[in-house]
Amino acid sequence: ATGFNGWGMAHGVVAAQLNTDLICGRKNEFADLYAPTRFKPVTSAPQLLKTGFSTAKHFIGDRLSHGDKKAVEKLKAGDACVLTIDGIRLALYRGKDGELHALSATCTHMGCIVNWNPAEESWDCPCHGSRFAADGTVIHGPAVKDLEKKEL
Ligand code: FES
Repeated sequence: ATGFNGWGMAHGVVAAQLNTDLICGRKNEFADLYAPTRFKPVTSAPQLLKTGFSTAKHFIGDRLSHGDKKAVEKLKAGDACVLTIDGIRLALYRGKDGELHALSATCTHMGCIVNWNPAEESWDCPCHGSRFAADGTVIHGPAVKDLEKKEL
């Protein structure tokens, strides 16, 4: 049981129950849904293309939008934004103490641009699901390196 694309907390539990049932010879209603043979290249092609297109869209499109530099002045404590300053994509976060923190907005996995997740107060990568704490520390892979700290 692997490759749950950031949904391992839920799918891991289902996989554990399913594997337990398989080992014990019991029927499990999710067996077909999780069967390794469920992948059908022809019927799965549209979804694969859609996922690949979405990743490419974020990889390219997120580099083209520069954001509003005035957003930095408007940032309240606990808020964040992504801006391009002097050609560098920055992930900016204003701490609860009012201090402004700057990180590279480039995900250390494969280079997509991270987005601020206000609900979790984390930097989330739209491409493969890496998540970083407000200070850039890796919370969840596939990225293994923290976001680079930057000077303003
Ligand atoms: Fe892959 Fe960010 S580029 S998780």
